[in-house]
Amino acid sequence: MNNILVTGGLGFIGSHTVVELHNVGFNVIIVDDLSNSRIEVLDNITQITGKKPDFHQLDLKNKSDVKKLFETTKIDGIIHFAAFKAVGESVEKPLDYYENNISSLVYILQEIRDRNIDNFIFSSSCTVYGQADELPITEKAPIKVAESPYGNTKQIGEEIIRESCAAYNFNAIALRYFNPIGAHESIKIGELPLGVPQNLIPFVTQTAVGIRKELSIFGDDYPTEDGTAIRDYIHVVDLAKAHIAALKRLLNKKNKTNFEFFNVGTGKGSSVLDVVKSFEKVSSKKLNYKIVGRRNGDITAAYADTTLAKKELNWQSEKTLDDALESAWKWQQNQS
Ligand code: UFG
Repeated sequence: MNNILVTGGLGFIGSHTVVELHNVGFNVIIVDDLSNSRIEVLDNITQITGKKPDFHQLDLKNKSDVKKLFETTKIDGIIHFAAFKAVGESVEKPLDYYENNISSLVYILQEIRDRNIDNFIFSSSCTVYGQADELPITEKAPIKVAESPYGNTKQIGEEIIRESCAAYNFNAIALRYFNPIGAHESIKIGELPLGVPQNLIPFVTQTAVGIRKELSIFGDDYPTEDGTAIRDYIHVVDLAKAHIAALKRLLNKKNKTNFEFFNVGTGKGSSVLDVVKSFEKVSSKKLNYKIVGRRNGDITAAYADTTLAKKELNWQSEKTLDDALESAWKWQQNQS
């Protein structure tokens, strides 16, 4: 059985990926510093899978702890989620973002180099494309100057991995996520935003249960059909499964170059008003919202061309926007 290290394995995407890894028979070792996740998630994962994953509370910025972990654990592959991820916060605290997101990556890659470990998967983001000139966005679209330090850590991260793969001869895949949303069907794991949510879907569900008074829609003067911005919202379970496909590609040595990257989205663009309509349908609730000005740094539209992931990873999303919003709504209602 392969041992897979999942950093940030108690976070939103990490926890769903741990469950899918378990479902296909991998042995999972979770590392998380609990800076943006809760320890209860470990029990919730255990309830879903019936098996408690090996867990280490560990700060990956601490090089000697990282070394110790690799010294004492046999690792056949790594999925690296652990990172700070708030775009706005990264503008206020760029050095925290560079220190956290880059040093942890470098320390893990040093262990990969020193111990001849292979099979590394990196959480990247469609943010690397900025406002792409053509839609849907293919992997050939140029990387744009990053809009935020957070986005820059993803761009720099990919570069560091590309150069390290070439120098040290290991294999890696970066997955460029579009907008992950939703929750596991068990409603035992989902998104747990700290404080006021910055992302659309948790804000929508919190408004619907009355935690927030109303949703502010950031701009209705974009050059889109209804004037609101367009994104590609992907169910987090579909996204988790993309990691399994990428991992198997590496383990089975099916990769074509030692560093590859794939878009992970549904291929369908939805406007903010589409999301509101879909949410109202699946929840049978009217959502309070108002239109306000655009949010700084937001782009007009981003949605994935998923051809490459379909062809090379043999993966495609299965769930619809309605499915994802329904699960997010059930998850929200289940929170105390
Ligand atoms: N939006 C609102 N009101 C809100 C929150 C969001 O109208 O209260 C709108 C945004 O303006 C945007 C859309 O909903 O048009 C989606 O916004 P999110 O904040 O949910 O997602 P983003 O596309 O802005 O950001 C996401 C990830 C980032 C990543 C980025 C890449 O959260 O980590 O995609 O484009 F960098």
